[in-house]
Amino acid sequence: MCGIVGYLGDNKASDIILSGLEKLEYRGYDSCGICLYNQSDQSFVTYKDKGRVEHLVHDFDYDINNHLAIGHTRWATHGKPNQTNSHPHFSLSKRFSIVHNGVIENYKELVSKFIPNTIFISETDTEVIANLIELFTETLSVDEAIRKTLSLIEGSYALLIIDTLSPNIIYAAKNKSPLLIGIRKEGITLASDLMALIGHADTYYPIEDKTFTKVEKIGNKYISEMFDIIGKPVQFVPLEMNMVLEEIGKGGYSHYMLKEICEQPSVIRKIMSKYLIEDQFTISPKITQMISAAKRIYIIAAGTSMHAGFVGKYYFENIANIPTEVFIASEFAYNMPLLVDNPLFIFISQSGETADLRTCLVNVKQLNYPTLTITNVATSTLAREADQFIEIYAGPEIAVASTKAYVGQVAILSILAYVVSSKKSFDLKLELSKVAIAMEAIIDKREYIHRLVQEKITKKSCFYIGRGLDYYTCLEAALKLKEISYIQTEGFAAGELKHGTIALIEDGIPVVAIISQKIINKNTRSNIREVLSRGANVLVISLNNVSDVTDEIVLVDVHEILSPLLTVIPTQLIAFYSALDLNKDIDKPRNLAKSVTVE
Ligand code: G6P
Repeated sequence: MCGIVGYLGDNKASDIILSGLEKLEYRGYDSCGICLYNQSDQSFVTYKDKGRVEHLVHDFDYDINNHLAIGHTRWATHGKPNQTNSHPHFSLSKRFSIVHNGVIENYKELVSKFIPNTIFISETDTEVIANLIELFTETLSVDEAIRKTLSLIEGSYALLIIDTLSPNIIYAAKNKSPLLIGIRKEGITLASDLMALIGHADTYYPIEDKTFTKVEKIGNKYISEMFDIIGKPVQFVPLEMNMVLEEIGKGGYSHYMLKEICEQPSVIRKIMSKYLIEDQFTISPKITQMISAAKRIYIIAAGTSMHAGFVGKYYFENIANIPTEVFIASEFAYNMPLLVDNPLFIFISQSGETADLRTCLVNVKQLNYPTLTITNVATSTLAREADQFIEIYAGPEIAVASTKAYVGQVAILSILAYVVSSKKSFDLKLELSKVAIAMEAIIDKREYIHRLVQEKITKKSCFYIGRGLDYYTCLEAALKLKEISYIQTEGFAAGELKHGTIALIEDGIPVVAIISQKIINKNTRSNIREVLSRGANVLVISLNNVSDVTDEIVLVDVHEILSPLLTVIPTQLIAFYSALDLNKDIDKPRNLAKSVTVE
């Protein structure tokens, strides 16, 4: 949550910061700000306000000769999104300017112990950091004051700090929240995500937890050095920048979400190409051994990734014969269940940064259990910190509502379960290829789904019902619809509806039923009749071989077990078109962020 960008170099810093912040808006977009050094009159200028980066870009004057700046796009945790609470924040004398992503858990204690008389301007925890640094510089050098502050603060943070007395230096520090340093001869860019480094770095490195980095201009050179908390240099190996600008554009689509929905067949094909060697799915032996050795798998995830986890449970149990449980990360973090011997923990996360998952990972690692992360971001914290990680290869997902990363996760889970299964009762390669083709068929008919949405989906509320694997898709479908259209939606196990929730069914309420498995066809159809007789406006999504002539969306047959990869597509389109017709901000829905780095 919150995106930060900094730059020190030969180019115009404000251009790099503003374009970087636009790329990081998926991390939060309720307010934003920039602090830059005006080289001409040697002063610092700060612009900040409530609202999107667009406002920052268009409504302030950047006709300033500037080569050093820090910027921030915010997802509010402490205090409302308004101009005062927007970053950058200053120390009392305005010597230190700071942007922060994360949450300082002990800021109240620090205030009462060290700076009880300081008057704070904002409601944020960030201002405390700036004031502590300022306080400690009364007796220490700036480097030492920053290190001392870092040793006192508890919680998560990615920080960029400017000392206005040294306009050739940016200090950076991090714990739990991501922060990358992008290197190029003509300047150094610092950012929460690789996307903001595209075009400005040839190599990069992630700052390690509880270290700090000093980016400095010495002579004509830009130097970046990393130090630990006692000031000892920390070595790093720069990584090649391998992301290109085209990967993060809209590619002619009106919205990132629509582009990402349409990319899903190629995600399946890309995953196959990455994990097929000589026609066999091949996963690192370390990972397959880990899975095979597990007596029980514990999948930990949040949001959409958790829904992929439910499908994964089905795969591990039905394909690989390994008992599996799924947990909400924020629950598991502080309520760990009684574990069996030889467990394996699988963390599923699109971003690889979700703070709730990281807490679970730290707890589980302390118990010395094996850990595996499934993520779309190979450089992410969860990828680095788990014993093993496996990449989804969905490509950058920009829309806040996850679509292609979800199908990527489900596909990876099917491959993992398949490679460790002793009896292979179907050809996964063939079946996944069929899925990609079937996905294309429904994506091609998306205008038809738009018309169905106009006919069936009302603003009031909506229910998705299904059983078995379809129930998991219903959970994901409901989340998608509510998060971008704000229509109150529930995903229900079809048979459970009659135990209470059917009381909410009345004339015209939309109920979308999903049917992909023979074994549940008859029962789900009975549940459809129950809601129909109470006035529901029903829309059925089914696979061809279980379809009825009256079903509105009939999908090409794929192997039953892979049906979640296909049935989810029309539900994503239903969410997209509902939000479009309601004129919602589809790619950046209110109150949400894509990378949730606070607990
Ligand atoms: C946020 C996003 C969701 C996402 C969840 C988990 O809430 O808005 O779309 O599913 O985080 O994120 P992760 O990156 O761990 O998959």
